[in-house]
Amino acid sequence: MIIHDAQFLTSNSRADLCPDPKLPEYAFIGRSNVGKSSLINMLTGRNGLAKTSASPGKTQLINHFVINDNWYLVDLPGYGYAKVSKTSRAEWARMINYYLLNRSNLMCVCVLIDSRHSPQSVDLEFMEKLGEEGIPFVMIFTKADKQSTAQTKALLAEYLRKMSEIWDELPRYFVTSAETRLGREEVLTFIEEVNQQ
Ligand code: GTP
Ligand code: MG
Repeated sequence: MIIHDAQFLTSNSRADLCPDPKLPEYAFIGRSNVGKSSLINMLTGRNGLAKTSASPGKTQLINHFVINDNWYLVDLPGYGYAKVSKTSRAEWARMINYYLLNRSNLMCVCVLIDSRHSPQSVDLEFMEKLGEEGIPFVMIFTKADKQSTAQTKALLAEYLRKMSEIWDELPRYFVTSAETRLGREEVLTFIEEVNQQ
């Protein structure tokens, strides 16, 4: 897919205030600091479109972008950040759950996972919940440039082994790097395919 236009639309905390659900939508979610905003910038080829930060907790709201006037891309706040208070965590869960359960045009949730880390229960549980609710999702492994290809392969194998204990059919997955643009074509082609369904 060629990205000829990528625009920021809105930031808000309520799914019912999100843009008119007239275009197919793809949401990026995952632990704080996993690289959601960076991946969005890499995919769109627009540095600075989504705000990134070295310290976790940068993205706080539901951020909508419109791509090629044809589909929405959504940057969501991260989960699992230890320094966040219980109240903020509950607030996050309420906002995200409402969004995930009510957004009629949501085609697929992209669950981002740091390719350097062993399977974490917070991610596994989040994906189990998506499965229970029948929300389609794929896994996107991030920051692959931070280690050797062999290390990424080994972790991926471990992850898929763990997933196969839970899932009969494994979700689709992609390996990416916002630094080297690894996986860009694969992710964009996947979105294009779903858009055409
Ligand atoms: P929150 O909005 O806080 O939940 O974080 P986020 O998931 O949006 O992460 P963000 O994109 O802000 O990136 C966090 C940090 O990781 C930044 O310092 C990025 O530069 C870095 N980073 C993100 N992706 C990559 C990658 O593929 N490779 C490398 N080397 N660094 C990355
Ligand atoms: Mg972010």
